[in-house]
Amino acid sequence: MVFVCSPQRNGPLGTEHCAPLLALARRLSGKPRQLRIVTFGAQSVLPGESTQPAQSAVWGMGRVIMTERPELACRLIDLPASSRFREETLIDLLSATQGEEETALREETIYARRLQRTGVENSEQRDKTMEGDDMAVAADTAPKPLFLPDRSYLVTGGLGGFGLETAVWMVEKGARTIVLGSRRGVPDSDAERRIARLRDYGARVECVRLDVTRPDSIREALDSIEADLPPLAGVFHSAAVLDDAPIIEATGDSLERTMAAKAQGAWRLHEATADLELDHFVLYASIASVIGNPGQAVYAAANAYLDGLTALRRAEGLPATCISWGPIADVGMVARDAVTERQLRALGATAVPPKPALRLLGELLREARGCLCVADIDWDRWMRAFPETPWNRLAELGSADGEDGQGPLATLRLTLAGKSKMDAMAVIIPQLKDVISSVLRVPVERLDATMALKDYGLDSLMAIELRNTIERTFGISLATVELLAAGSLEGLAKQILDRVEPQPDTEKPPIIAPADHRTPAEFCQWLLERIEVQPPYFVFTEIERRGEWLEADVTVTPPPPREAALVSVAEAARHLAILGSCAASLQCPLTERVYYPVRSARMIEHRYHPDSGSTKRLRARAHCTHFDLAASQARVEAELLDAHGEIVYRFGVEYHIIPEPQFRILFQDNAEKTFEESGRDPYATVRELPPVDSFRDGVAIEMVVDPEWCLGHFVGYPAYPVAIMLRDVMALIAEGIRRRHGWRDVRVTGIHGGVVTERFVFAHERAVLRAYPISRPEDAEKHTESWRCDVLSGHELAASFQVHVAAHGV
Ligand SMILES: NC(=O)c1ccc[n+]([C@@H]2O[C@H](COP(=O)([O-])OP(=O)(O)OC[C@H]3O[C@@H](n4cnc5c(N)ncnc54)[C@H](OP(=O)(O)O)[C@@H]3O)[C@@H](O)[C@H]2O)c1
Repeated sequence: MVFVCSPQRNGPLGTEHCAPLLALARRLSGKPRQLRIVTFGAQSVLPGESTQPAQSAVWGMGRVIMTERPELACRLIDLPASSRFREETLIDLLSATQGEEETALREETIYARRLQRTGVENSEQRDKTMEGDDMAVAADTAPKPLFLPDRSYLVTGGLGGFGLETAVWMVEKGARTIVLGSRRGVPDSDAERRIARLRDYGARVECVRLDVTRPDSIREALDSIEADLPPLAGVFHSAAVLDDAPIIEATGDSLERTMAAKAQGAWRLHEATADLELDHFVLYASIASVIGNPGQAVYAAANAYLDGLTALRRAEGLPATCISWGPIADVGMVARDAVTERQLRALGATAVPPKPALRLLGELLREARGCLCVADIDWDRWMRAFPETPWNRLAELGSADGEDGQGPLATLRLTLAGKSKMDAMAVIIPQLKDVISSVLRVPVERLDATMALKDYGLDSLMAIELRNTIERTFGISLATVELLAAGSLEGLAKQILDRVEPQPDTEKPPIIAPADHRTPAEFCQWLLERIEVQPPYFVFTEIERRGEWLEADVTVTPPPPREAALVSVAEAARHLAILGSCAASLQCPLTERVYYPVRSARMIEHRYHPDSGSTKRLRARAHCTHFDLAASQARVEAELLDAHGEIVYRFGVEYHIIPEPQFRILFQDNAEKTFEESGRDPYATVRELPPVDSFRDGVAIEMVVDPEWCLGHFVGYPAYPVAIMLRDVMALIAEGIRRRHGWRDVRVTGIHGGVVTERFVFAHERAVLRAYPISRPEDAEKHTESWRCDVLSGHELAASFQVHVAAHGV
């Protein structure tokens, strides 16, 4: 199937091609296809080549289709907007099922995209060298300051987290007049404090009401700068609206809203400043569009538009720099959203603090660069997380041993070649000591190779850092549970050595081709034993295999009306998570039992179900999309279908993979005999909510969950399972909504959101649930509320939920 973006339909809105593409991707989802997207002038390939930003936007969306909907086998092909290309070559590109995923055709040449690391010259370093070496040269060629005290600089979205941080940095770098524009135009108390400090520092900071989607609003802001302030010398476009949703959920509205602030806003600023002599025109984009972050199709489109506009401006000789930022720490939209932040971290994208990020921006502006990414990403991990997506464009970024055999593992293999086991250990142990010393912050000389790492303070967070450092140093990927279970430094060195030695082909076929004669009931029994889930925590009696899916009937008994949507989501989640771990276990080559605790989940409610007061038979199905024993990570897609085969809920679940012996070593201190084995079903009765603390400062609402509520399904290790947490979280949020609006009752009609877990809550521990609204003002109009709920055990975060709820007062 070929989707062609007509070269005649490019407008400033940027949605011209993305809206029909989104509708198409939604319709095709789930149906294997060979989708080819053809654009005209989306990419600047040849020197000085201009672009059509509305076409560039399509590339951002296309990249998300690649990661989120791999079954569509999406490929992007760019043709020149006005020059020639060889049609036969295009036909070859359209029909190819293998090869490059992002290509551009110019004349007869096919160009394929490659992201590359780039260096920047550090001007602070350079200035120091110059001073030391030759003062005269330094004086003659002293770089022009980035910001001039007698000029003004406009930051759109300047009262947002990263926008305001940018303003602070600009003042530190010499700017003295800053205009912060946003629709509200009024800083909150935190922003007010920061702005006051800038003013104390001698800067003039003006907060103005500015809606970048409206030309009249931009005109008004520019006129007031012209009338009252020094001439405008720079625009930093940081305004953004997020309305993320998976492709099957994303709507034309969310596309328009997201495109409006970023893309349309950028275009309007470009037009309105055409006559001004600017030094800087900086567009803040996101790495989401470069790597196709799932769930961000519309956001990616808006950000890719900015790449296009940058190329267009540069082709016209105008200043333009577009930075695709990775997640930023401490401030802004990712820092506010703990779930997304942790999900990104789990995928390999670590948030960068604003100061070093902006320092890099300064260097890039000095060098007048065009489109760049500034991000801290473990590319190998990112690519591994999406094994069905082609990643040719990232081929030069992965650190693993490439074909050239230059990586750390290849070097280690060479060093150890021909050495005895003892000699090899003598090489590995000192290197490993350096690694452990830096992660655990223990001097090397105090490290004893035989002492348990736990005794040096190794906890699960440090284990993740240690795992990443080992991967970088030795090129070897160990699961964090393996690290924790390795015991001593020596034990860890042995594990590394085992991996270094060329492995005979140990890849065992998935064991689990079940014997044909197994009935669905036997198959079900056998699967549930493999994942160590025991009655009464499931209601499946039969499970069948259909192609790549595992399927089962599930009976859902809906709870009373007020909680219907809430609990039916939790019920669905519980069954889908269990069926999902069965699907994961089919990929597992281990013969022992394996535990699959939920690491994170994304829940999407498609349709409210079931009718209250009735008992429904629904169909659940799940299939495993990723299984990586070394990384202790499995991912599953699971769906609940109604009698007509329509999707009621869809969940994406990510699990830890913990073999039973390791689970016992790791958590033996938490094992306890409880009524776990009494056969009582904690799901069967609808519990009364315990007294809920009243609103704290009108914001947060709290609930304490007593230990006896904590019933998990890992026999002997009862925890507070995520599905029961979800049920309590939903009930707490409903109560919070009721109190927030002073409603007598609240009817919840729709839910979607996500959870990230940090640690288990065991049965002897008390959990505190704290929920607070994080809704944006515009949500109120749609009767939707966004809430966050943290589950704390002791002072530690155990899980963090973020849910978007459609609710009405009764
Ligand atoms: N933070 C990160 O981790 C991160 C990562 C990658 C990229 N980025 C990019 O960096 C930029 C700044 O992000 P942030 O984290 O600071 O976001 P933020 O805290 O959400 O701030 C965005 C600001 O944009 C303003 N805005 C929205 N629509 C507007 C409009 N039509 N006209 C004028 N202002 C508007 C909002 O204020 P009003 O509601 O008052 O208008 C808000 O203050 C964004 O472009 C974002 O995409 C951020």
